[in-house]
Amino acid sequence: MARFGILQLLVLFLPPVWAASNSKTSLTLVFQNNLNASDDANHVGFILLDLMDQRDAAGACAAIGESLVSRTSIQTHQADFVHSFSYLVYAGTVHPGQSYYIQNGTVTMAEAGNGTTFQSVPAPGRELPVLCTQSSNQDQPGTAVATKSNELTISSGGNTYIGFRNQKSFRFLGIPYADPPQRFVYSTLYTPTGKTINATAYGSVCAQAGSGSEDCLFLNIQTPYLPKPNSTARLRPVMFWIHGGGFLNGAGSDPASDGGNLASREDIVVVTINYRVSTLGFLAIPGTNITGNYGIADQITALEWTIKNIASFGGDPSQITIIGESAGAGSVRTLLGSLPAKGKFQGAIAMSNLGGGVDLGLTRDYATTYSSYLTVAASYARAGQNIFAAAGCNQTDLAAQIACLKQVPALTLVGYSSAAAYVVQDGYYVNTEELDVVNANGSAAYVPVIFGVTANDGASFATYPSTPVANEAAGIEASLGISASAAQAIIDSGLFPYYDTGNVTLDAFNVSQRVATDNEFRCVDQATVYAAARSGAFPAAYFYQMERTIAGYDPNHLGGPPATPGFPAGNPHLPYFRLHGSDMPWVFGNLGTLREPADLFSIQLTTAYFGAFVKQGDPNPAAAALRVRGYDTALEAIDATGPWDPVSGVDGPIRLMDYPAVASGFIDLPQCAWLNYSISYYLDGGS
Ligand SMILES: *[C@@H]1O[C@H](CO)[C@@H](O)[C@H](O)[C@H]1NC(C)=O
Ligand SMILES: *[C@@H]1O[C@H](CO)[C@@H](O)[C@H](O)[C@H]1NC(C)=O
Ligand SMILES: *[C@@H]1O[C@H](CO)[C@@H](O)[C@H](O)[C@H]1NC(C)=O
Ligand SMILES: *[C@@H]1O[C@H](CO)[C@@H](O)[C@H](O)[C@H]1NC(C)=O
Ligand SMILES: *[C@@H]1O[C@H](CO)[C@@H](O)[C@H](O)[C@H]1NC(C)=O
Ligand SMILES: *[C@@H]1O[C@H](CO)[C@@H](O)[C@H](O)[C@H]1NC(C)=O
Ligand SMILES: *[C@@H]1O[C@H](CO)[C@@H](O)[C@H](O)[C@H]1NC(C)=O
Ligand SMILES: *[C@@H]1O[C@H](CO)[C@@H](O)[C@H](O)[C@H]1NC(C)=O
Ligand SMILES: *[C@@H]1O[C@H](CO)[C@@H](O)[C@H](O)[C@H]1NC(C)=O
Ligand SMILES: *[C@@H]1O[C@H](CO)[C@@H](O)[C@H](O)[C@H]1NC(C)=O
Ligand SMILES: *[C@@H]1O[C@H](CO)[C@@H](O)[C@H](O)[C@H]1NC(C)=O
Repeated sequence: MARFGILQLLVLFLPPVWAASNSKTSLTLVFQNNLNASDDANHVGFILLDLMDQRDAAGACAAIGESLVSRTSIQTHQADFVHSFSYLVYAGTVHPGQSYYIQNGTVTMAEAGNGTTFQSVPAPGRELPVLCTQSSNQDQPGTAVATKSNELTISSGGNTYIGFRNQKSFRFLGIPYADPPQRFVYSTLYTPTGKTINATAYGSVCAQAGSGSEDCLFLNIQTPYLPKPNSTARLRPVMFWIHGGGFLNGAGSDPASDGGNLASREDIVVVTINYRVSTLGFLAIPGTNITGNYGIADQITALEWTIKNIASFGGDPSQITIIGESAGAGSVRTLLGSLPAKGKFQGAIAMSNLGGGVDLGLTRDYATTYSSYLTVAASYARAGQNIFAAAGCNQTDLAAQIACLKQVPALTLVGYSSAAAYVVQDGYYVNTEELDVVNANGSAAYVPVIFGVTANDGASFATYPSTPVANEAAGIEASLGISASAAQAIIDSGLFPYYDTGNVTLDAFNVSQRVATDNEFRCVDQATVYAAARSGAFPAAYFYQMERTIAGYDPNHLGGPPATPGFPAGNPHLPYFRLHGSDMPWVFGNLGTLREPADLFSIQLTTAYFGAFVKQGDPNPAAAALRVRGYDTALEAIDATGPWDPVSGVDGPIRLMDYPAVASGFIDLPQCAWLNYSISYYLDGGS
């Protein structure tokens, strides 16, 4: 029995298989990222290690599958080196005038100015930080694949995580933050310990029409920094992304929200999460313990995991900004007013949150539920009953009905045409009908916020007529799905003037999309920040409108501006609709194809604003930070246009995001008043 073969003996006496980790030194991935995807190949990164003796330097690099950086590599990427290390000095990560061990000696960056000097013989016995190569050069989320040479392990909360790195960041994907959830039961924090978690591939998306599973409560982390175990030195602020998808679909693995570019560009940690959606996330049945908001509760569980563990991944648990778009923005708004979420984040950004004003017969009722929450009974009346019927679970006894529904396969359940996709007033996660921004320190968390819209969010929700229309009224009627008299009332108001390009269908649609943008997005969101500014509900409330975008949610197949000579990817100087969701590349810096340089410059500017907000709760980056890092385009724009001020009164101000981004007053206030969503809506008590 106890006979060892030669192989077993070898295994016993060989040193343990080497595993790259942060056990002996912190790891900082330094990459000077200009967000120009086609330029990635022209840049190199570095991995910065802690102080050590020169004798240990080469081995420490080898331990992560790299080698000491060569003098030539620094010389050929001098600007990248100087900018990124000047920034680390600025940020207090390294000392001014610091020397680093590199191949065959040291490199020292001059304390003032930008020169570097190389020395081949370092002072003996000196401990210096070490610069290793960073050779994992996959630059896009889709091409970032773990291999033996780019994997590394870290420990957190009693578990070991295997992650990997690409050109932009360290990546830990598919981390289970909760125990596998039971159907219609609130999630609880992941409990196992002593596990090795393979965090090199995304976990399953949550069950949604066509794909996913119920075991889906995973999150993903992109980080520039992995501290030594239990170290809390130099932790980076955290951006916590909550995806959209109408509470029906979506996932944290969406490449559009990949945080790698932000991690390197803004030196922050990005967390993206899955949460339960559709009927599995939001079913609510009156008189039972199925009280809904499972998806919202999952978001809070993910926040709790983040607070508990993120320091091990380089993130500061006391500096978390929650951010989401569409239903993600609706989630942010919900969390702002949720008692169980209070104190779990320090800033909030809601991109294109929905909320309805007047019932124009639009998808208005649908939009309304994002900001004015249904009761459990109302949710059940809309969705619950139909779901039981669709499942054939509509026996008379409710307990039997629920037991029956629990047996329906997940993908069948979320495949019905009726789905529960509403935040409800469950009395615990949500205990008010609306976010209370009228009363200072009412239900709302006291944190700085940014709200904003794309210029034409409503163009994704109004319907482009399937056949040409004869006149404006007919076009509005068709694209908003409203009566002839309601369409005529819009025209008669004189507030939504017809802009004549000679294409009646398009021009009528243009009127409709403005009505839809105001009625479903702009009015509620402007009113929210205005009321908050008046009441002091938040320490500061900022507002933006995205003026330059690409793609987005386009059920009408409107497309972008046409190509013209010199603009093969579309000419952004021609008219086009800034659709819902089309601002994602501006916030994450993930744009593949530029139409013109200003696309890149405006992305560099937007990420600077949003990055600054994540770092300091104020979207205005310090000029010195931009200067040392060489973020010249952002610096020039900000110098030219002045600060982005918080909303302070009836005139805003708001920021029109383009290159540069300029200040403006609130937009369409008379239109919002006509839509019965006047700016004083909340102040008058709302309804
Ligand atoms: C270094 O400074 C000089 C003079 O200010 C400037 O011309 C040069 O572009 C700078 N180089 C880098 C890499 O910043
Ligand atoms: C520099 O370091 C490399 C790698 O360790 C080594 O092969 C080479 O001989 C060294 N060159 C000098 C001049 O010391
Ligand atoms: C909800 O009630 C049912 C029936 O009484 C019970 O079996 C189930 O455990 C309860 N679920 C929770 C989460 O309390
Ligand atoms: C981790 O998961 C990836 C992707 O599923 C797989 O290729 C790899 O072999 C796994 N690694 C370990 C150590 O289990
Ligand atoms: C980190 O802290 C935990 C909990 O205090 C402890 O169990 C663990 O041994 C520490 N790890 C290191 C490497 O010091
Ligand atoms: C269940 O729903 C089906 C489909 O809507 C309907 O035909 C049937 O009458 C319902 N049964 C009960 C008991 O309500
Ligand atoms: C709200 O509460 C915060 C602390 O939680 C406090 O600093 C702030 O002054 C309060 N605002 C008002 C208007 O009372
Ligand atoms: C009107 O504009 C739409 C959208 O750009 C286009 O599809 C349609 O062909 C145009 N119609 C005419 C008559 O030019
Ligand atoms: C829509 O109308 C506005 C004026 O209200 C105009 O500036 C814009 O170019 C129009 N958009 C399109 C796509 O025609
Ligand atoms: C992006 O990078 C490519 C490749 O280096 C370069 O040709 C192009 O000019 C860059 N675009 C901008 C706007 O800087
Ligand atoms: C706004 O409310 C007033 C008073 O309730 C009503 O008369 C008016 O029709 C409403 N406006 C619209 C556009 O529905």
